[in-house]
Amino acid sequence: MKIKKAVIPVGGLGTRFLPATKAQPKEMLPIVDKPAVQYIVEEAVASGIESIIFITGRNKKSIEDHFDKSVELELLLEEKQKVDILKEVQQISSMSNIHYIRQKEPLGLGHAVLCAEQFIGDEPFAVLLGDDIMISEKPALKQLIDTYHRTQQSVIGVKKVAMEDVSKYGIIDPGSKFGQVHSVKDLVEKPAIANAPSDLAVMGRYILNPSIFSYLKSIELGVGNELQLTDALRLLCQKERLVALDLIGKRYDIGDKVGYLKAMIEVALQREDLNDSLLSYLEKLVETERTQNSVYRSKLNKNKKISSASS
Ligand code: G1P
Repeated sequence: MKIKKAVIPVGGLGTRFLPATKAQPKEMLPIVDKPAVQYIVEEAVASGIESIIFITGRNKKSIEDHFDKSVELELLLEEKQKVDILKEVQQISSMSNIHYIRQKEPLGLGHAVLCAEQFIGDEPFAVLLGDDIMISEKPALKQLIDTYHRTQQSVIGVKKVAMEDVSKYGIIDPGSKFGQVHSVKDLVEKPAIANAPSDLAVMGRYILNPSIFSYLKSIELGVGNELQLTDALRLLCQKERLVALDLIGKRYDIGDKVGYLKAMIEVALQREDLNDSLLSYLEKLVETERTQNSVYRSKLNKNKKISSASS
């Protein structure tokens, strides 16, 4: 069955990016000149998704405005004959069928996915999380969809992470492996290093059979007092089969400040119009930082020598 629908939960408060997210959703923070959420929608559309449902919360109206038609702006751009940017703006509002449901209580990712049950009905569907920006030749979601068609089983995208980071993610307990596909024996949400079954972390891309909804209804609140999608997947992999695909591509965790800055710089470097000037700026900056640091280090060493000589 074709995967036509995708769920994008955007209800989170974005507390890690305060004060920037006090009056705007974190999903609207730009990576260069495009809001982060547009990268997610573009990935879904490029993977063949036809309808998207955003699970929103308070303070998220600008996401709806962004994907809506902006008549005044289009008229203005037309008058000023800004043809290229006009085309880009028009394209955003015609990208996909977009729907919105409000998640009334902040009960976590599992609860957000459950809010989409009526919209999804009885077909397999995709979930994409906005904190994970994937840049790859073949869209990450398309990689999962192709795996779903081969295996006919729910699929989650994974990547290896450093052991000290396992407690930030859902971590799988992998079984046998064929090519890039692992069978999943179990998974655990945000384990302590000592309890992590592997270093393979769930990367915010899922293709799920609709049976996930019944598992979501039977779990209790988990980590962070929230309904965790990982806990429902745990039930799913006990009752039916679940596989994990090693995603190919670069992933940025834009829920993290350094991850966000990396995404901003690397995406800009990939742009022809920005590469030259940004690269020469960065080269100069690194050079200056290096010389200043070495001056600083030699001053520090000198001071150390003086103080040890006088003691
Ligand atoms: C969520 C999921 C987690 C997954 C992560 C990927 O966690 O619960 O299993 O590994 O996204 O980014 P969150 O980052 O929303 O706490």
